[in-house]
Amino acid sequence: MANKNGSEKVRGLEGVIALSSELSSIDGEEGKLVYRGYDIYDLAENASFEEVVYLLWNGDLPNQGELDALKRDLRAARELPEPVIDILRKVPDTAHPMAVLRTAVSALGLYDDEADADTPEANRRKATRLLARTPAIIAAYARLRDGKEPIAPLSEASMAFNFLYMLNGEEPGTAAEDTFDTCLVLHADHGLNASTFTSRVIGSTLSDMYSAVSGAIGALKGPLHGGANREVMRMLLDIDEKGADPVDYVNEKLENKERVMGFGHRVYRTMDPRAAILRDRVKALSEERGATKWYDYSMAILNTVKSEKGLDPNVDFFSASTYYMMGLDPDLFTPIFALSRSAGWTAHLLEQWEDNRLIRPRAAYVGKTGRTVTPISERA
Ligand code: ACO
Repeated sequence: MANKNGSEKVRGLEGVIALSSELSSIDGEEGKLVYRGYDIYDLAENASFEEVVYLLWNGDLPNQGELDALKRDLRAARELPEPVIDILRKVPDTAHPMAVLRTAVSALGLYDDEADADTPEANRRKATRLLARTPAIIAAYARLRDGKEPIAPLSEASMAFNFLYMLNGEEPGTAAEDTFDTCLVLHADHGLNASTFTSRVIGSTLSDMYSAVSGAIGALKGPLHGGANREVMRMLLDIDEKGADPVDYVNEKLENKERVMGFGHRVYRTMDPRAAILRDRVKALSEERGATKWYDYSMAILNTVKSEKGLDPNVDFFSASTYYMMGLDPDLFTPIFALSRSAGWTAHLLEQWEDNRLIRPRAAYVGKTGRTVTPISERA
């Protein structure tokens, strides 16, 4: 839309190619997501989260020795500095879990001697520490707010296994570990989404990795981005508590011009492939347990939003019921998203710093022009 100065009103950087990246690509028409040349279906089926982390950070999938070395490094870096645990003990009960995570990740930087070291080697070590400690922060916070003490991770286990163990205090079964690992793979990277863009903008000023990832967590918190998964579960629970018909419930939202969380996407014009993978997981989990309520509600909502608005679900729609069926608390859903996306944020920062240039776009000025200052005594 042109304003009277002749400038275009630009909103949301839609369709703007802001930088080049070799990390992941999205085909919004075909519903395809690719990490470094590998289709997400292939990775979800055949690669672990740690393998995907290696792929994002290094460009290729690891061989066994490389994977073992990465796992060793992640394990060695897992322990949280005691002052960060103290912060988690002191946050108010009313705090948003993403605000807690943002604060704790920022605090990690205070206790990292290499926080401002900017060599590629130091940045790689920080990426490892950040990724290793994020699950420990979330699990420790979740336990502390329930009046329980944090639990140390088991040394040999995968990140998926350890997170669930540190959270619940008991070893997860293979199915839970496998489903959670797939969720981590699916959320690890996604082109230049809002939080990744945030991290690259901060990184491009040559600020440090902790600042960039804290900023990214702040962006992911919003309900138009990662915060949507928690809102989806709130909607499903509200339908259940009210004994409402999901079709009527969602139609009422649409009539009131409200957004239905977990639907729509800036890039996809068809089903988000991550949503398709998780839909199948929820279906299988539901059938296995003979409890299909959340799947049934979700499908009723999906069909209604598709037929009324032509919108497809995004990853947040089915991650909500997947996590809920795994017994995870809805207000941890977005922190869990951040846990996985830390892989992508740090990979993007490493890529940004390989060939850095300050990211500094311009705004089309659409404000008033040609004014002069009148003395304050003469102003109305
Ligand atoms: N429910 C209802 N209507 C919607 C929705 C929705 N979820 N999403 C888009 N629309 C409608 C808008 O109202 C608008 O309609 P109008 O043109 O009649 O006003 C039209 O579709 C275009 O919407 P925009 O907001 O301009 O589209 P944009 O590309 O900016 O939005 C977004 C993308 C923010 C994801 C949007 O679809 C949305 O708000 N979805 C709900 C929140 C959500 O699920 N976020 C998670 C995204 S995935 C992720 O970040 C991991």
